[in-house]
Amino acid sequence: MKQAANSYATPPNTARFLPTLLDEASRPFRNGGHFAYHYARGKLSSDCIFRELLRRGIFPAEGRFLDLGCGQGSLFAWLLAARKLYENGHWPSDWAAAPKPLSLRGYELMQKDVDRASGAFGTNHPIVDIRQGDMCQVDFGQADVVTILDALHYFDHAGQTDVLKRIHAALPPGGIFLTRVGDAGAGLPFYICNWVDRAVTFIRGHRLPTLYNRKLADWVELLESIGFTIDAQPMNEGKPFANVMLVCRVAAKSAQG
Ligand SMILES: C[S@@+](CC[C@H](N)C(=O)[O-])C[C@H]1O[C@@H](n2cnc3c(N)ncnc32)[C@H](O)[C@@H]1O
Repeated sequence: MKQAANSYATPPNTARFLPTLLDEASRPFRNGGHFAYHYARGKLSSDCIFRELLRRGIFPAEGRFLDLGCGQGSLFAWLLAARKLYENGHWPSDWAAAPKPLSLRGYELMQKDVDRASGAFGTNHPIVDIRQGDMCQVDFGQADVVTILDALHYFDHAGQTDVLKRIHAALPPGGIFLTRVGDAGAGLPFYICNWVDRAVTFIRGHRLPTLYNRKLADWVELLESIGFTIDAQPMNEGKPFANVMLVCRVAAKSAQG
């Protein structure tokens, strides 16, 4: 496993660009209602993972995306806005090129979130398709990038193993599975993170959840046993949490195939 140091330097051109990207990404949610709009703005501006995914160029140049536990589709709005600004030549010179999404499919358990996504993207969007579904049950089809941001720990360990195996099977050689998990071995930051998670989940209309966490080393061991290569990067900027972004790659085919 590769473990990267935290690097969150925000050069001036990035600081100037981010408000433009945020405006563009949150605009669709105006059609999804007051809550959808302000939730998207809050989430996209306060959670460093959205910026870092683009800045670090983690996704392939183009591809079919599948987001599991996608909520109202904030990640997809972010990717669409990024590509639009990039194609219009409005893009920080020190960022990787914005990926070109060929399709953006999402599954979300809560119908309320799916309704907000429909309000934002419409029900007949050329590439966005967000449906109500339980990731433990739906067919993933094929994708080049699969993402699960902060949603893997809501179901039990056997379910997690099954979902991760099916994600691996849905990806081609060179495909990427990107997730963020809490490191249950991190002590106090993990307990704070867990407490906040339970409170927010309750407020969002779920019952007080049982959360199925693992230590970082156990997540990595599981993912490697399934066939992924893992790059682990802390992803908490400004928050006393124990969140780690795991970039999990399926080995590319060798020259011999
Ligand atoms: C913390 S929220 C994150 C939402 C989104 N990934 C984001 O970053 O904005 C976790 C989401 O996962 C959803 N979720 C939990 N278990 C799920 C499952 N088994 N299948 C699909 N979605 C699920 C929840 O309803 C919730 O919307």
